[in-house]
Amino acid sequence: MSMDPVRPDRQKRMGPGPRVAMVLAAAGALVAGAALTLPGTASAGTTLGASAAEKGRYFGTAVAANKLSDSVYVGILNREFNSVTAENEMKWDATEPSQNSFNFSNADRIVNHAQSNGMRIRGHALAWHQQQPGWAQSLSGTALRNAMLNHITRVATYYRGKIDSWDVVNEAFADGNTGARRDSNLQRTGNDWIEAAFRAADAADPGAKLCYNDYNTDGQNAKSNAVYAMVQDFKSRGVPIDCVGFQSHFNAQSPVPSDYQANLQRFANLGVEVQITELDIEGSGTAQANNYQRVVQACLAVSRCAGITVWGIRDTDSWRASGTPLLFDGSGNKKPAYTSTLNALNAGGGTPPPTTTPPGNPPTTPPTTPPTTPPTTPPGGAGCSASVSLNSWNGGFVATVRVTAGSSGTNGWTVSLTLPGGAAVTNTWNASASGTTGAVSFRNVAYNGRLTAGQSTEFGFQGTGSATGITPTCTAS
Ligand code: G3I
Repeated sequence: MSMDPVRPDRQKRMGPGPRVAMVLAAAGALVAGAALTLPGTASAGTTLGASAAEKGRYFGTAVAANKLSDSVYVGILNREFNSVTAENEMKWDATEPSQNSFNFSNADRIVNHAQSNGMRIRGHALAWHQQQPGWAQSLSGTALRNAMLNHITRVATYYRGKIDSWDVVNEAFADGNTGARRDSNLQRTGNDWIEAAFRAADAADPGAKLCYNDYNTDGQNAKSNAVYAMVQDFKSRGVPIDCVGFQSHFNAQSPVPSDYQANLQRFANLGVEVQITELDIEGSGTAQANNYQRVVQACLAVSRCAGITVWGIRDTDSWRASGTPLLFDGSGNKKPAYTSTLNALNAGGGTPPPTTTPPGNPPTTPPTTPPTTPPTTPPGGAGCSASVSLNSWNGGFVATVRVTAGSSGTNGWTVSLTLPGGAAVTNTWNASASGTTGAVSFRNVAYNGRLTAGQSTEFGFQGTGSATGITPTCTAS
């Protein structure tokens, strides 16, 4: 079988797992024989997270912020899991309840809990046809496209550096045999909405892995074939995608497919990481336990399968509680499915994930994102320099501007540039803008004006029209 050339993996941040493991190893050497408990790191081989970590994977769960005051829930969370996904708190309706007014309070509760317990964080979900705020549901066309891109930019910027993987786009393909995109208000803004979403997320948080996430794509079928073709296309054109999430919601009508592992593997062969993102399997007893075991075995057999997230902790926490689909019962007791999952994680075999970036074939076409403009002031001079990278689409753009202090450092800075005719700034972050068209300038805000020699900071702005060719100049004060 010949494979289309794919781009090499993009360099992305590592989750906290290896770091915590090193801390543990060092601490273990110092405190030989003494009982040692670090948050989020139970003994290897006896919890889901520790056992997965031994195989180079994470084991995560969806978390609801309003359950973080439930001591049974938190006790299991901290003992068993080393990754979390916000079940609802990072969705569009939760984070941007009115346009351009953001609320991260519940999402922050989950992020803070994860960070203080050494857990990695999956961000879910930046663009989705469901759980949109009412104001977005009433938009269409360019207004909706720009609102979506602004949302992605603002949320991913807010959490920059904290998210291991973002579900950038969720559930964009139709069920059934058509292999078509799902009809939605987002789809109706133009077929390129998915790649525009990925480019915006990449500009906002270049260190996060960027995933496409869907259900009923767990085996080979018309829907997963369509997602496969999209990923193949993105990789060949340099659209920034790093991972595909397989939700894996299973029950009698939708069982674990016989080709589950083969399907994960064919996506991995495209040069993306695969992740099991929302696992739950309705049932009970041995049958349920066997199904969980199969899923774990499939992930361990695919070297690029980075980890597994279950969609809740106790059966009673599940979005479909009546199907008792999770690993702990309503009282927090371990079910047979827990034991089979842990045993499968601990069993020998499996393919470790690669420790180095494997070589990839060169791209067939150059990336469509314009290259970064070189700094306007030579490095090493006094003052400051600025460079811009643009994420453009038909009718709009997001500009990310990097400001670097020269040899004297800065107490403050101003970046000036001239927008082409027809372009206008609509929104700015991490700087204060003067003017919206023609000659515009951006002044530092309180927290990013002081830079030591050579230090950099970034701000961004969004606009309508085209900003191609803009050249920023930086003045230090
Ligand atoms: O918080 C309100 C509560 O105040 C109100 O009284 C109650 C009345 O309906 O609703 C509560 O909000 C619910 C929310 O879950 C929190 O429980 C929403 O109605 C309900 O729609 C929402 O359901 C979520 C669902 O996504 C929405 O589509 C589920 O919790 C969540 O598990 C589920 O997760 C999705 C993934 O994001 C994407 N893949 C499928 C998966 C399962 O549907």
